[in-house]
Amino acid sequence: MMLHIPNVLTPEQVARCRDVMEKAAWVDGDSTAGHQSRKVKFNLQLPERSAETQELGDMVRKALAPNQLFVSAVLPQQVLPPLFNRYDAGMVFGSHVDNAIREHFSGIRIRTDVSATLFISAPEDYDGGELVIEDTFGSHAVKLPAGDMIVYPGTSLHHVTPITRGSHIASFFWTQSLIRDNEKRALMFDLDMSIMKLAQDHPDHPSTVQLTSIYHNLLRQWSET
Ligand code: NI
Repeated sequence: MMLHIPNVLTPEQVARCRDVMEKAAWVDGDSTAGHQSRKVKFNLQLPERSAETQELGDMVRKALAPNQLFVSAVLPQQVLPPLFNRYDAGMVFGSHVDNAIREHFSGIRIRTDVSATLFISAPEDYDGGELVIEDTFGSHAVKLPAGDMIVYPGTSLHHVTPITRGSHIASFFWTQSLIRDNEKRALMFDLDMSIMKLAQDHPDHPSTVQLTSIYHNLLRQWSET
């Protein structure tokens, strides 16, 4: 399941990202690429251990914690500290799948169940640079407003189309979910959204309690902690 999560960062937070990044030293994106993706990855990144990555990554993680859509869709068990990349004119990231397991220098090690890209550049600031995600229903090109995020299964093939004008800056990170299976996780999301809608439209409907109980019992059955 792919999901667009709007307004993860406020315009002020996006502006802070751009400010910090303007003065930062970018390095070749090779540094975090796996063996296979290194051949197709041509972009820049903020160094993983830099103060900038730390500050902005903390900001992103704090913004995610209370985000109901993110929590409901991803059911996060552990979020790997976010990273930041930049594509200037001519840069591209060819088709690849993300590594199944990722480690952070702090010692965190996760299974990459869900991939996330949080757009920091505004769409009018660059041409090209679409994130194209492939699933069983075909290819989906994604280009979102600054501050918005897309989450998609870590199992998906994806690529970033060449930039022809401007710069495209984004944050990207992976989450290990309480539910490893994409389809089960998508069902939980649908059920959660339906319960919320029912509770909104008919606040006193007795089925709300029953359905909520089913939600939690399924989570008990399917989650790994
Ligand atoms: Ni990737």
